[in-house]
Amino acid sequence: MKFQKPVTPTILAVAAMLALSPFAQAQKNLDAEGHQWWQHAVFYEIYPRSFADSDNSGMGDLNGITSKMDYLQRLGVDAIWITPCFPSPQVDFGYDVSDYEDIDPTYGTLNDFDRMVEEGKNHNVRIILDFVINHTSDQHKWFLDSKSSKTAAHRDWYIWRDGKGPNQPPNNWLSTFGHSAWKFDPTTGQYYYHYFYAEQPDLNWRNPAVERAMFDVTRWWYKRGVAGFRLDAVDTLFEVQDLRDNPILPGTNKFGDPNMENKYNTKLPEMHGVLTRLRGVADESDAVLIGETWTKTIDQLKEYYGGHGKELQMPMDFLFANINRLSADEFRRQIAGVDASGGWPVYLVSNHDIVRSYNRYGDGRHNDEIAKLMAGLYLTLRGTPIMYYGEELGMENNDPKRREDVKDPIGRTGWPAEKGRDGERTPMQWNDSANAGFSTVTPWLPVPPSYKTHNVATEDKDPDSILNFYRHLLALRHTDQALLEGEYVPLNESDPNVISYLRRYKSEAVLVVLNMSAKEQKVNFDLAPQGFAKAKSTTLLTTMKPAPSRTEQVALAPFGVYIAKLAK
Ligand code: NOJ
Repeated sequence: MKFQKPVTPTILAVAAMLALSPFAQAQKNLDAEGHQWWQHAVFYEIYPRSFADSDNSGMGDLNGITSKMDYLQRLGVDAIWITPCFPSPQVDFGYDVSDYEDIDPTYGTLNDFDRMVEEGKNHNVRIILDFVINHTSDQHKWFLDSKSSKTAAHRDWYIWRDGKGPNQPPNNWLSTFGHSAWKFDPTTGQYYYHYFYAEQPDLNWRNPAVERAMFDVTRWWYKRGVAGFRLDAVDTLFEVQDLRDNPILPGTNKFGDPNMENKYNTKLPEMHGVLTRLRGVADESDAVLIGETWTKTIDQLKEYYGGHGKELQMPMDFLFANINRLSADEFRRQIAGVDASGGWPVYLVSNHDIVRSYNRYGDGRHNDEIAKLMAGLYLTLRGTPIMYYGEELGMENNDPKRREDVKDPIGRTGWPAEKGRDGERTPMQWNDSANAGFSTVTPWLPVPPSYKTHNVATEDKDPDSILNFYRHLLALRHTDQALLEGEYVPLNESDPNVISYLRRYKSEAVLVVLNMSAKEQKVNFDLAPQGFAKAKSTTLLTTMKPAPSRTEQVALAPFGVYIAKLAK
């Protein structure tokens, strides 16, 4: 690894260690606590349409990803989750799959995929695919057969029902993308159910043939070298069989539909059976399952881990991701909750469905400092982080200004209250040339003006950039025992502005101090109760210049970050 200007000598040592020891080997050495590879890994989400365009089509592709393996490895990424790259009519940009066992020509071929896996291996980067488990595309051969007649072989692979009466769907359920969740199909005179777009009919998971076929899809990819799956929309796998109406709540949503409690079509207990059995299949290949698990409480999140860890290894904690303001109290509460859940926490601050963290937490004045602050938080916690591409640069949302520019269909249905998700899916910013170096032709989505300063090439040269801050932090994460294995010990829990904690492991600890306010703060620590009263401290990484000299009292700049090693 080559750093421009290390923050501390310790960083140099860490970097040298990483350069000498391939991660595969380091991982074996770090498994002392019985932790598996994914517990020590940093995951990185790639939206393939927007990452790197190798053939200058205006859309990214697999060869583009392969060409960036050096970048990913140097950044400190161990696994990439690629959002769906399977054949698809692209109504929902890949989340409408028409063939689970191939690659969409937009993104390349199966040979390109195999080459990406190979290059990934050479760079110690594992490949995670996105398994769209709740629904297929309406162009999938299963659905085409299903809709062809009431007696078709695949009829019962989807959810078909008679309407309540002429022009009346079977019940009041709404699609989360707007309007009724039922579409009438004149061929057989029945309605089919779609929780998402009408082009995404829900599979009938009560049919064992569906389960068998879908589980076989995962086996097929495991044989091709995939290290696991991110499971899309697991909350919506099942619906009650009698199709009772959902309770209506006061008010209307962004699509003008009545608000509704999705009581009878989400989070049904039957899904846990499917996930447990799917885990059984994953275990045959030592694979990891990551869940798109939207929960309202920690107790709900806990259920996804399953008793004795037998369900999902990595259900994402969206309660953490949904804290939309810099609140030390709120973060403390949420971290403590998930940390005590008994499962291994999974933290993220952005993805392809939510506004980028740079905008959600930024105050317009200190956005770069805040981007480092957030990195200092979710990359030092006990658990596995999932980064979103470009977060390491401080990429920002670029929302469409006019309805006619919107690509994401919900942005057209819901305009202007709902502008869709284009803003967080813009091309990766590689350099300051036209189209941010993503493509020589106009990309499918426009890059925001900030690409001139927030791009890989420019930030690479700046020792204080967000990119180099991420690199330093990720290097530490891979080598520091306390950051890898240590327990989370909150400190100064009544401080409304500064969140502080230890990651404590045996006789060592890492102290993390993060100022979530726009004012300077002075924080006093008494580490005697934690057994570190007389500990020797060494600064590992800080945004303050000069670095604070004592851990008993740390002076923090607005949004300042201080991370130090303590050793008895
Ligand atoms: C969740 C995915 O993250 C989102 O992008 C997609 O639109 C829906 N599931 C439907 O597959």
